[in-house]
Amino acid sequence: MNQLESIKKHLESYGLREISSLLLPAARRALNSIKHGDYARWRDIVSKLPKLPASTVDFNAPAVTVTDHEAVKDPENRKNLKKLLKGLMPWRKGPYNIHGVYIDTEWRSDLKWDRLKDEISELSGKIVLDVGCGNGYHCWRMYGAGASTVIGIDPSPLFLCQFMAISHFTGSSHPVFLLPMKIEDLPDFSNTFDTVFSMGLLYHRRDPIGHLTRLKKLIRPAGELVLETIILNSSTSNVLVPSGRYAKMNNVWFIPSPSLLETWLKRTGFVNIRLIDITPTTSTEQRRTKWMEYESLNDFLDPSNPGLTVEGYPAPERAVFLAEKPS
Ligand SMILES: C[S@@+](CC[C@H](N)C(=O)[O-])C[C@H]1O[C@@H](n2cnc3c(N)ncnc32)[C@H](O)[C@@H]1O
Repeated sequence: MNQLESIKKHLESYGLREISSLLLPAARRALNSIKHGDYARWRDIVSKLPKLPASTVDFNAPAVTVTDHEAVKDPENRKNLKKLLKGLMPWRKGPYNIHGVYIDTEWRSDLKWDRLKDEISELSGKIVLDVGCGNGYHCWRMYGAGASTVIGIDPSPLFLCQFMAISHFTGSSHPVFLLPMKIEDLPDFSNTFDTVFSMGLLYHRRDPIGHLTRLKKLIRPAGELVLETIILNSSTSNVLVPSGRYAKMNNVWFIPSPSLLETWLKRTGFVNIRLIDITPTTSTEQRRTKWMEYESLNDFLDPSNPGLTVEGYPAPERAVFLAEKPS
C-alpha cells in the first residue's frame, strides 16, 4: 500500500530507521488482516474520489479545510464529491471542509482540541503518536501545531478509509499517517515518541493500568502523555464500573474519579501530573447530524434528567490530564 511506502520514506529521511523497521512489518500485517465486509466498498469509494490539483489546506481551522478548487465550484462536481464522501458514513470525528463540502461530523472534535492545545508541551518538531485516533482528525491538528511526524493508530477500517479520503485531498506531502492497529499490536517500541496522546480510550480498556504502562513505555524520557477520558466527578478516590452498558455503550469498563486517575498515573511511574480540564459532554459537542444518522448523546441520556445516562449513571464528563515520563 502506498501509505506504507510513504511512511517508510518519511521516517527514514528523518533518521527514524528503527521506528520504520519495527513498525512497517506490523502495519502491513494489520492491513492484510482487515476482514470487514464493507472494506472493499469503502476502498472503492476512496479510489473513485476526483483527482484534483493540490489546493491550500488549513490544518489550524476548526474544520480541517481543503479550499475549493475551480473544478468543484461546478455544482454537479460538488454533488458527486458529496455523494462519494457520504458513502463513507457514519462520520464521527471532525469536522472537515473538503472543496466546499462541509462534513458535519457527530463530534465537534475541535472543541476537545481547544481544551488542551494551549496547555500541552509545544509540538513543534516533535514525533507524536495518537493512540485510538479515530479517523485522524486530531492528527491533522497536531501537524498543524507543528509536529514533524504524526502517527495515529486505530483498528477501525472505516476510520482508515475516511483518513485515506481526507489525505487524498490534503496531498501526500504531509507527514501524517494512520495505521489500522491496536495499541497491543504495536511492536516493542520503547522511549520513542516525544508526545503520546490517548484520548477517549482509557474507559474502553479492561486493564487501564496496563494501558497506562504501555503508553509510558512508548514515550521517550521527559516526553509527555496527554490523557483524555470520561471521569466520575467526585472529590474522593473512587471508580465507577458499570454493571452493564454505560450511555448505551457495552464496552465501558472503568470510570475513575480524578484523584484515583492521578493515583493510577503515579503508580505507573508518571511525574508532573496535571489535571487541566473537566468538561461535561453536551449536545453542542456530540450530536446526530446528516453525516452520522444513528443515535447520539441525547439518546444516551435520561430524557427527564440529562445529568444521568439512560442507565441511571452520572452523565459523561471528560477530563484531560498531562503527565511526564521521568527523564
Ligand atoms: C471514543 S474514540 C476516540 C477517538 C479520538 N481519539 C477522540 O478523542 O476523538 C476511541 C477510539 O479508540 C479506538 N480503539 C479501540 N480499541 C483500541 C485499541 N486497543 N488500540 C487503539 N485504538 C483503539 C476505536 O476504534 C475508536 O476509534
